[in-house]
Amino acid sequence: MKKLYGVLFLAAILFISACGGGNGGKRHFVGVSMPTKDLERWSVDGDNLERQLEKLGYKVSVQYAQNDVSAQISQIENLITLGADILIIAPIDGEALTPVLKEAAEKNIKVIAYDRLIKNTPDVDYYVTFDNYQVGVLQGRIIEKALGLDKGAKGPFNVEIFSGAPDDNNAYYFFSGAMSVLQPYIDKGIILTPSRQVGWPKYGIEQWSNQKAQERMTDILSAFYTSKKVDAVLSPNDAVAYGVISALKGAGYAPGDAKKPFPVITGQDADKVNVQAILHDEQTATIFKDTRVLAQRAVNITKAIFDGGTPEVNDTKTYNNNVKIVPSYLCAPVTVYKETVKPALIDSGYYKESDIK
Ligand code: BGC
Repeated sequence: MKKLYGVLFLAAILFISACGGGNGGKRHFVGVSMPTKDLERWSVDGDNLERQLEKLGYKVSVQYAQNDVSAQISQIENLITLGADILIIAPIDGEALTPVLKEAAEKNIKVIAYDRLIKNTPDVDYYVTFDNYQVGVLQGRIIEKALGLDKGAKGPFNVEIFSGAPDDNNAYYFFSGAMSVLQPYIDKGIILTPSRQVGWPKYGIEQWSNQKAQERMTDILSAFYTSKKVDAVLSPNDAVAYGVISALKGAGYAPGDAKKPFPVITGQDADKVNVQAILHDEQTATIFKDTRVLAQRAVNITKAIFDGGTPEVNDTKTYNNNVKIVPSYLCAPVTVYKETVKPALIDSGYYKESDIK
């Protein structure tokens, strides 16, 4: 009898999972296209999306494009051919997907831009992201607070300004958010930038490469800092911060050193190695964007589309993609300092303590 129940139970499970996400017998299919597996955050994003979508019974295929724009386009084409019903895409180049998304629209496939806006196309339906401008504001505030600018410190302080990939729309928002905090101090001569290299996209770090960031910082240190020290570096994300940290170490900076103490350094993503750098006083703070929450938002929209409901958005003004304003859901970013690593990253279950040891 027990055995029979076991068999019936198994049959029921198989039946439910075969019908899960039902679509007249055919399972709903979600194609996910991520920029690269090399950067930790995107592989975590991909895993979160896969897990949450599969839980709802949908068929899922997650593709990573190694930061290669044409690879991403052919992966999307492939997902269309395989019969995807919805595409969730974090673009490498936000302006390069217009033709492939036209193909998607012709097949009635809905498109959700993930983390980065897809521009110059009518064929993007929703956008889920973190408040990108606010990420920049929080980065600016890390420097403002650590240098005591908010308490009236007059410096002048030497601050070098890094910005993200020129083809990534987010990089523009991070940069402008941060500069909204720092520019008034630059105007008053409280912040100096000895390299005078400030600006996005001109000085953006291509592909957010930590190696390119390291090269740029090394060049700046040897050209402008032979008789000065750096007080702060605005870094738009953790990969860039890691490059900056390596360059500083190479030039003899060390945490707590009497002559060359580590400067204030910002970041974003809470990558494991950068959390370790924060714990070791090499990086001041990072902006944590809980990828579980972002994935959940994309999944909620996906489910609403499949169920014929109304997808939840909370911003219908900010993200103009040059063709239309894309209805967006913006999640809230959080600053993480050494003191808040535990509550923000460990107690929340994002990392295990052993991950960042
Ligand atoms: C994302 C960041 C990420 C960067 C590099 C940006 O678009 O918002 O979280 O660090 O791309 O991949």
